[in-house]
Amino acid sequence: MPLPEGFLQELKDRNDMTEVASSYVNLNRRGRNMVGLCPFHGEKTPSFNIYPENGSFYCFGCGVGGDVITFIMKIENLDYIDAVKFLAQRAGMNMPEDSYDDSMAGLRKRIFEANREAARFFYKSLYSEYGRRGLDYFHRRALSDRTIRHFGLGYADPERSSLCNHLKSLGFKNSELISANLAFQTRNGGVADRFYDRVMFPIIDLRGNVIAFGGRIMGDGKPKYLNTSDTPVFKKSANLFSLNNAKNSGDRSLILCEGYMDVIAVNQAGFQNAVATLGTALTQEQALLMKRYADEVIICYDSDEAGQKATARAIGFLRNAGLNIKIITIPQGKDPDEFLRNKGSDAHDAFKNVIEGSGNDVEYRLNKLKAEYNLELADGRVGFLTEASKILATLDNSIEQDVYISRLCKELEVSRDAVRQQIQKYGKKRYYERRKENFKNLRQNLSGRNDKVNTDRYKKPRAATAEEGVIAYIIKNPDRLSYVEKELLPERFQTEFNRKLFEYFSEKIKGGGDPLASVSGDFTQEETAKIFQIVNSEHARLANERTAAENIKVINDEFFRQQLSDPASADMDSIAEQLKRMKESRQ
Ligand code: CTP
Ligand code: MN
Repeated sequence: MPLPEGFLQELKDRNDMTEVASSYVNLNRRGRNMVGLCPFHGEKTPSFNIYPENGSFYCFGCGVGGDVITFIMKIENLDYIDAVKFLAQRAGMNMPEDSYDDSMAGLRKRIFEANREAARFFYKSLYSEYGRRGLDYFHRRALSDRTIRHFGLGYADPERSSLCNHLKSLGFKNSELISANLAFQTRNGGVADRFYDRVMFPIIDLRGNVIAFGGRIMGDGKPKYLNTSDTPVFKKSANLFSLNNAKNSGDRSLILCEGYMDVIAVNQAGFQNAVATLGTALTQEQALLMKRYADEVIICYDSDEAGQKATARAIGFLRNAGLNIKIITIPQGKDPDEFLRNKGSDAHDAFKNVIEGSGNDVEYRLNKLKAEYNLELADGRVGFLTEASKILATLDNSIEQDVYISRLCKELEVSRDAVRQQIQKYGKKRYYERRKENFKNLRQNLSGRNDKVNTDRYKKPRAATAEEGVIAYIIKNPDRLSYVEKELLPERFQTEFNRKLFEYFSEKIKGGGDPLASVSGDFTQEETAKIFQIVNSEHARLANERTAAENIKVINDEFFRQQLSDPASADMDSIAEQLKRMKESRQ
């Protein structure tokens, strides 16, 4: 059963779009709207818009849009019903009686419960007699019992059914264990544990739910780490290990490590703000997630070649997300965990020194570059400066640029002008490339060729635009629906998606209430974005009686033109109507 419209209306009234968004995004007023840097894709100039008028948002950069519920779904990574619950709680509202628990929300809840029980079970095992091996392993790696408890580490014994038996005794169904990726289906239709004979690392989200596990083999076997695959509650690429701890560190700075053990060792040394990706390279999504809790990220990857490659890749995403970057180089080519273990009780001070000695990403890249050239030779200096100029040309901050120019010029004894000219040359090139790219995107959007929601749009762009004008008009002027309906039948819409919208909104308007109230629940996220794009377009803002009449005429004309070009299938009444219209417009 869908949620009552009145409830949704109140929910939206009490969760102001601007207010909700501003706890995630820095917003500035622009005319009647608010704008900011989009939290859903990396950008440097704001294209994320909030429309207080109808409580919605739309990003021109990535095409994401919707109402306050959509916003919470996306930013908190929740499904529809959980986003509604989240907002209800925020506004101190009760969910409606017999509010629907759709099967997906129900399953997610069961997975959270199963994971929580599993984490408990693994932790208990670690401190039981048969868990001795696991505990010894962690102790050998210099983890204290306090650290083990803090992270809820555990032990999965070598039997292949211990966890499944335990969870089944608590009432969990095989299908739930499989959905949670805690178990595999066996050939005879039973289940077997996914994790066995490993030490276990629970992964906990920002609300304290156990969403996944990583398990490390205690010897040399393969794979070294086994991780939960994506499940209805877990998306690898959108979560970070230990962000639940790090977000409370209070200093808007995060230390990005490569693995579980590094994060835990750094924590044990007294730095709460360490996080790691979950067995994959950093994604843009994770960089944007970090930006919500930090202004600065200290990259602390291994100093081997793989680590250096990963660093280069991470820098791009982090810069894009608007984060300041520092890069730690662990002395003696070790990973942070080994480094700290060797330092013993001096770990804290040693690591603090390393952080203080870290350079930012530009220094890091210039240093790497420098190592490739022989600066004793003129050729080498020219080569280095040419490439260095390319790096400096990518900096948007001119003061920052200046600092490096000064430094380079002094070091290599060349004139500032020469370097500056070189940078300007690359800067211009970059500017034009970016502009060309933006222009290409814009043109593609306008042509509607990559409109994935209204797939007919590009075939009938003029009619589709007119249809969107009509839809926006009736939403803004519900009292004008009867007029529109008199002039325009839904059959005459040229694009199917817009016809569906027209029929949907006509019905909503006739039912009274805000026609937009249930959109985010009734349509997919892509459709919702498209609807709010239509509703917030310039076209919609200018909709009035005159433009409505014009739009209706465009749609009717297109329809009749089609009918006349194919008289065999045309119906006589509409041809008669068209002839009458033509006569009228001639008078
Ligand atoms: N990883 C993984 N699967 C593997 C190997 C690694 O998912 N087969 C992920 C894990 O999240 C791991 C991270 O990549 O923490 C870094 O890998 P690696 O440097 O090999 O491991 P360490 O963190 O150094 O682990 P340890 O110190 O336990 O060897
Ligand atoms: Mn290691």
